[in-house]
Amino acid sequence: MAENKHAEATIITIFGGSGDLTWRKLMPALFNLYLDNRLPEHFHIHGLGRQNYADTEYRKRLHEGVNKFSRRGKANPKIWEKFSSHISYCPADFAKPAFYTKLKKDIEAMEKEWEKPITRIFYLAIPPGIIEMISINLGKAGLVKDVLKNRVVVEKPFGHDLQSATTLNKKMLSIFKECQIYRIDHYLGKETVQNIMAFRFANALFEPLWNRNFIDHVQITVSEKIGVEDRGGYYETAGALRDMIQNHLLQLACLIAMEPPLSFAADEVRNKKVDVLNAVRPVTPQEVHNFAVRGQYGEGWIEGKKVKAYRDEKNVDAHSNTETFAAFKFFIDNWRWQNVPFYLRTGKRLQETISVITIQFRPVPHMAFPEESTENWQPNKLILNIQPDMGIRIRFQAKRPGLDMHLIPVDMLFDYSSTYTTGTPEAYETLLLDVMEGDATLFMRADQVEAAWRILMPVINTWAGNPSVNFPNYSAGMQGPEDAEALIARDGKSWIALPFDKKKK
Ligand code: BG6
Repeated sequence: MAENKHAEATIITIFGGSGDLTWRKLMPALFNLYLDNRLPEHFHIHGLGRQNYADTEYRKRLHEGVNKFSRRGKANPKIWEKFSSHISYCPADFAKPAFYTKLKKDIEAMEKEWEKPITRIFYLAIPPGIIEMISINLGKAGLVKDVLKNRVVVEKPFGHDLQSATTLNKKMLSIFKECQIYRIDHYLGKETVQNIMAFRFANALFEPLWNRNFIDHVQITVSEKIGVEDRGGYYETAGALRDMIQNHLLQLACLIAMEPPLSFAADEVRNKKVDVLNAVRPVTPQEVHNFAVRGQYGEGWIEGKKVKAYRDEKNVDAHSNTETFAAFKFFIDNWRWQNVPFYLRTGKRLQETISVITIQFRPVPHMAFPEESTENWQPNKLILNIQPDMGIRIRFQAKRPGLDMHLIPVDMLFDYSSTYTTGTPEAYETLLLDVMEGDATLFMRADQVEAAWRILMPVINTWAGNPSVNFPNYSAGMQGPEDAEALIARDGKSWIALPFDKKKK
């Protein structure tokens, strides 16, 4: 198999190697990179975890995960055999310094055998509470001394609020240089999300319209049918605002709102994105109710099946105040976006699984057509479909064929599935490859994470201090709480209706 010429010999050490993320996401992604010849000739994947597995057992379990979750379906057994010969496992107590001494020895032995410059990647697929402890131990053991070749990957959530994120950043930056830390927001690895930059900055057509003179408002919806599944314990400490808005939705907003970068160098792109976050108009505690809405699902119906209320889910408090839905409105105080509202909403156990960004343009300045021609008239919309359908849709007015002048909205559609026959890489494939190649563009820098927390702190504090009196306030299978409709209706606008008319495809 031809190897990737860009990535150097690499050892990926996964803390949390026996966990769910490794099983469902990381290993299928690494196997797909292998199938696409994107792994270097010399690579090794070393899983570390609390469970006791022999190497063969561990490989067998990962094989099952790949068969179940890989976008390519079941693995060819012969190819899997070859790939999995690069995988080993070690039961570990991450709190014991002696363990890191052994890890260092193992890694150095491999490096000696390969006689090559080696990239060391330490992937922290572990609960946030132990990131600091593992980082300290990696530092003390001298495992991450090479600034260019030793990298650490950190999963979200990065901190629990502004203070804890700042403290964690400080601690990590006393051990690693910023360029060694890859803070993952997996939305940034999604194909359609990366395409937002291509759409905006590789076309001359849209950028002149991309401002307050032409755009009325922006909406971002990430709606999920699934509930909290078996993550009740984690979710109780998070809620929709921390779990989704602080990271995924604000990052999508940055890609829509950022200024054109001079180049695609990691720091240039991240500078432009953090400028957006820093320009978000602060909300005072007194204003929170006008800018943020929370919801929690009660029991209901999803795809014809009765589903539990959030408070009845496993590991969830029967009186929980945790929000499973959040909507947030904000303004960006700069020349481009002054007074253009951005509306974000996300929730679990909603009617649809769909992620979509809508750019709503302003109405024409003067409507010359008579009223009877324009009954169905709508201002232009640009709809970026992130998932599950991937595509871009421009909605504009056209004359309906016939002897009378009737204007109706029609769509121009770029649809991935009918345009391309090649499969789309999963976000984790893109992101893991970027870590191996040392490209941090799609990862969160310390200041981005902190700026995102700073925006949300007034909401977090207000909600924590005032438990909701009306939870649950939406039934599973609906579109979320009524308050979310009110949030946008107060401004004379409405959320885009979901799902789109499939016939229009
Ligand atoms: C994760 C959240 O970051 O993103 C989950 O913790 C959420 O609660 C998930 O379900 C959504 O990701 P995706 O890629 O399925 O849209």
